[in-house]
Amino acid sequence: MTAVGIDAIEIWTGKLKLDLAETFAPEKGEDPEKYTKGLGLHASSFPDAHEDIVTMGANAAHRLMDRKGLTPDDIGRIDVATESAFDNSKPVSTYIAGCLEQVYDEDFHHANKGERKFACIAGTQSLDDAYNWIKAGRNRGRAALVVATDTALYARGDPGEATQGAGAVAMLITEDPSLVELSTDQGYGSADETDFLKPNQQFPSVDGKRSMQVYLARMREALEDYESVAGASHPEDFAYIPFHTPFPGMVRKAGLLGYRHMIRNTSVEEELAEEIGLQPREEDYEDREAYEEAIRNHMDDLKSTAEYQEWYGEVIEPTLSIARQVGNWYTGSVHIARASALKSAAETGVDLAGERLLVGSYGSGAQAEIHAETVRDGWKDEIEQLNVDEQIEGRYDLSFEEYENVHDRHNHDKTIEMEDFTVPDEEFVFTGRGRMNERLYDFVE
Ligand code: CAA
Repeated sequence: MTAVGIDAIEIWTGKLKLDLAETFAPEKGEDPEKYTKGLGLHASSFPDAHEDIVTMGANAAHRLMDRKGLTPDDIGRIDVATESAFDNSKPVSTYIAGCLEQVYDEDFHHANKGERKFACIAGTQSLDDAYNWIKAGRNRGRAALVVATDTALYARGDPGEATQGAGAVAMLITEDPSLVELSTDQGYGSADETDFLKPNQQFPSVDGKRSMQVYLARMREALEDYESVAGASHPEDFAYIPFHTPFPGMVRKAGLLGYRHMIRNTSVEEELAEEIGLQPREEDYEDREAYEEAIRNHMDDLKSTAEYQEWYGEVIEPTLSIARQVGNWYTGSVHIARASALKSAAETGVDLAGERLLVGSYGSGAQAEIHAETVRDGWKDEIEQLNVDEQIEGRYDLSFEEYENVHDRHNHDKTIEMEDFTVPDEEFVFTGRGRMNERLYDFVE
């Protein structure tokens, strides 16, 4: 059976940076450690005046196609995942294709284009669509381009403001991929939830605390569903577990929950029992409340064990390095978590070929999906092509007043002019609106 998966990936970060500890916290009158330690975030990325979801997506895709020596004829499908779309009819993929056609001789007239929506999980769903399309033999030898692009902005003053971010991830899905092979080992946890939504509005209505509970509940459901297909999972089974990362503190909770689930009824639980006791079992408690309190106490103990901390440091922590510097990218978030992990392995000389990853995606509203991937032989050469560190380092560092202007500039209800902070170079830029209010783009040499 031919392997199908991610052949290559490119990342484009918004070119502005808001430092949470130095710039945001003092204005909010908060302890900087609430952000750096509590949420686990140091900075957020924002789009410059000439950037938006189209430019960031097109720039990531352009870099990917150039690096892989591809032309539009090689691409049979372009799917864009976003929860920041500005048009209820015309998909962002048409805008991105239009941008790319400015720089290639060929066009994408024979590529199927679409837009996927299910909050942050849509990027992973687009990967699935591409995988299924290739597996069904409908691709005529061509690759799929999946672009996850978002400007994750919250209303000013919303508690989510600290977790904002902007950027795009472009992924090439092919047969015989270089990076990771996708698999049919997959599970879902999905329910009609009202935790985070944007009913025809730009900035989300968020019940922050509830959204965290829903994330964990759906993730646990997805893990159980995954195990019904793939069999019981064990912490040692996976080199890394990249999760959707709205902020690293959320993943800290998901990692602990996953570990507790995976070690139950294993020798690891028995070995830890000497130090912290066995995990509470519901049948041993009078009511649900007493059981939940016992679980919370047990989790606190588990979190402090050397075994757990070592596992977390090896399997989860390396997935968070990019997110800490850029914030939440919604649909791209779990894909930068995977990239962070692979990048960390390349930097520390870990040989990953043949190793497995467990990928936990999540979208509010709400759905979690968990699937296994296998790292391919070409992973290191591929991941070493990323220049994300350079991009992160090169961002313009905003003052708080500048941040306020940038937020207004990208607020669809406001029309304010703002000078660019950075000079566009070999990239697509937003230039204004056309006669039908469509957005217009140019490539700047
Ligand atoms: N030093 C160290 N830690 C500190 C601290 C300090 N001085 N002050 C606070 N903290 C800790 C808190 O204890 C807390 O950690 P724990 O949860 O582990 O206890 C953490 O920092 C955050 O503090 P608060 O809970 O007080 O923060 P908050 O109420 O201002 O907001 C939030 C947190 C609700 C997550 C908010 O940022 C929010 O609404 N975010 C948007 C929604 C979101 O991201 N939800 C995640 C799940 S939904 C999802 O994943 C989809 C998506 O992408 C949006």
